[in-house]
Amino acid sequence: MVVDTVAINRRSNAFAGEESLWLFGYGSLLYKADFPFLECRPARIRGWVRRFWQGSHDHRGSPEAPGRVATLIRAPESVCTGMAYRITPDVLEPLDVREKNGYLRFTTELAFTDGGTAEGLVYIATEDNAAFLGEAPMQEMARHVARSRGPSGPNRDYLLGVARVLRELGADDPHVFGLEAAMLAWESGSGDPVSGAGETSA
Ligand code: BEZ
Repeated sequence: MVVDTVAINRRSNAFAGEESLWLFGYGSLLYKADFPFLECRPARIRGWVRRFWQGSHDHRGSPEAPGRVATLIRAPESVCTGMAYRITPDVLEPLDVREKNGYLRFTTELAFTDGGTAEGLVYIATEDNAAFLGEAPMQEMARHVARSRGPSGPNRDYLLGVARVLRELGADDPHVFGLEAAMLAWESGSGDPVSGAGETSA
């Protein structure tokens, strides 16, 4: 189901009156920072893990066949690596529209990898949003990503973009790298990279 979080996000007054604020990116914002920013710094947030558990009806899929994109899931002992952008508050308006399908703004502490911390914003699609797909076996998620596409392009390009930037950042993210490996193996016809067994058709 398509949801629209624009109005809810616009009611948020976190960072109201500030000249700039930090926005933490962990999904499309890693490889598609097509908005003006004052500076960007690799950063981590504690207590969340990245998972390809959110449906995308408007970017990497369609209402009939949603794609699978990243959201954050609470995991108290975990750390999620991403990129922090310092932006002016007006930049949030187009981002609210771009990421309207279930993503809400949350406030969290960012730890910059080169030192220091700051309060910042992050967009998260929580488990209770109508577009949430949740967990599925890795092979199933890989096939889902491989075959989905939407107005922003193939779903696979989103996954490859996230994985590429995480590699550049030196981040350890077994979920993303495992999904990428499973998708590439599926595309090359070698099937299940975990067991090494190719899928056979009856
Ligand atoms: C991000 O890349 O941080 C992001 C993911 C989903 C919605 C908005 C931003």
